[in-house]
Amino acid sequence: MEIQMTGIAKAFGTNQVLKDVNLTLKAGEVHALMGENGAGKSTLMNILTGLHKADGGTILVDGKETVYSSPREAETHGIAFIHQELNIWPNLSLLENLYLMQPKKNGLGLLDKKTMLREAQAKCAELQIELPLTKDASECSVGQQQMTEILRVLMLNAKVVIMDEPSAALTERETATLFRMMRQLKAQGVAIVYISHRMEEVFSECDVITVMRDGHTISTKPVGDTSVDEVVRHMVGRSIDEFYPDRTTEPGEVVLTVKDLKPKNFGHTISFDLRKGEILGVAGLMGAGRTEIMRAIFGVDGHDGGEITLEGKELHFKKPEDAIKAGIAFITEDRKGEGLILDFSIGSNITLPNLKQVCPTHVLNKSKLVSFADSLSKKLGVKTQSVHLPASSLSGGNQQKVVIAKWIGLGPSIIIMDEPTRGIDIGAKRDIYDLMNELTSQGVSIIMVSSELPEVLGMSDRIMVIHEGAVAGILPRAEATPESIMTLATGGE
Ligand SMILES: Nc1ncnc2c1ncn2[C@@H]1O[C@H](COP(=O)(O)OP(=O)(O)OP(=O)(O)O)[C@@H](O)[C@H]1O
Ligand SMILES: [Mg+2]
Repeated sequence: MEIQMTGIAKAFGTNQVLKDVNLTLKAGEVHALMGENGAGKSTLMNILTGLHKADGGTILVDGKETVYSSPREAETHGIAFIHQELNIWPNLSLLENLYLMQPKKNGLGLLDKKTMLREAQAKCAELQIELPLTKDASECSVGQQQMTEILRVLMLNAKVVIMDEPSAALTERETATLFRMMRQLKAQGVAIVYISHRMEEVFSECDVITVMRDGHTISTKPVGDTSVDEVVRHMVGRSIDEFYPDRTTEPGEVVLTVKDLKPKNFGHTISFDLRKGEILGVAGLMGAGRTEIMRAIFGVDGHDGGEITLEGKELHFKKPEDAIKAGIAFITEDRKGEGLILDFSIGSNITLPNLKQVCPTHVLNKSKLVSFADSLSKKLGVKTQSVHLPASSLSGGNQQKVVIAKWIGLGPSIIIMDEPTRGIDIGAKRDIYDLMNELTSQGVSIIMVSSELPEVLGMSDRIMVIHEGAVAGILPRAEATPESIMTLATGGE
């Protein structure tokens, strides 16, 4: 199947998102679609698959002008879309989610669970993926849910598969599986649109890169004819040489001590400390237990012993609210679970947890709230025309920035950030790094869990490496190299 989108235009209200976008997609090609948060990547694909209607331009499918009236119709014609936000029903099993749209029935018209299970198991075996098919989705990891969504789409035998940041929620192993599945699809002549902010993946897995900016297609080139530098320049309109800002704050006295903490189901205990104005990077392979440790500290999961001391005072967090009261914020890696209320305005999402602080007398001062939200949203570079618009109108990456803004607004003294720049474009990353520097210069301490080694090396004062639920080592920035971190992360000496 070949798809040719020409001169596509689309506005939301007065926001002219797409002006003149061209995209040609050929059978058997993996086509990367890149651009800053809010550039219109997801919108373009929503137009192709019939969720949105273009204001202008044409779409040719195998040479014939085509407009699908709904994503369902596009799917039945072989164009499947794996969305940026998961489309999984938490209270159904993975198997039920797989077959929700095309259930198998037996002769009596009843659901034929056995056949569905057998078929799904066979498909998993064929693709070499392991999924707890009969478990409720809510009990599965985000990665397993994402793999289910991918598997569902693969079982449609689509000719065109659109993947909108599919790897953002996957572990390294799952990502490797995803790439293997993509190569299989490609060999079968399937065309893949691959949306991602991760340069390495794009350059290793894709054949062609199209970059969008300011509503236009800036370039379409085979990967071999372009470079990371060029793609960045096309995306943000300038080169970014100094990607990581200099750290200028000297960490002060110890503010937080974690001693012999035993997170639930951990075989080891965890001990470390955090200084005033310090950025402590937390590195480790996916599944090493980094997020679990942070959840235990923050009082989400509880723990089986250990001491947490904040500025000399021993603390016992029974629930996250206790930690928040003590001045600790936790920006989790799961944006959806973070509780952005999509129907509420961007402003309300930022101010809701901050009401007491902005309006201490309990009298709501609307203009004060709006300017509070406005300044935070500007600081993080949220791409929107107004904070009065609903959060649902934001692109995925910009929703992520609102989550960060909400927490920063609370004025915490310690911020735990779990994968803070996942899904964030390369220009906006720099904004977040600058903000981290600003916060630490004001005495805020940051624990940054990150799977991106360059980010850990570029921003941390010290780096704590976790391996199989234990602290494998804590390195000062000057001693840390990609090799020394990877050695510790994989259990080496
Ligand atoms: N339903 C909507 N209503 C109003 N505005 C919208 C809607 N959907 C998207 N937009 C706006 O269109 C622009 C493009 O959004 P889109 O989601 O396509 O960006 P994106 O390139 O996918 O970004 P990201 O990398 O953050 O996912 C943004 O400015 C966004 O606010
Ligand atoms: Mg998007």
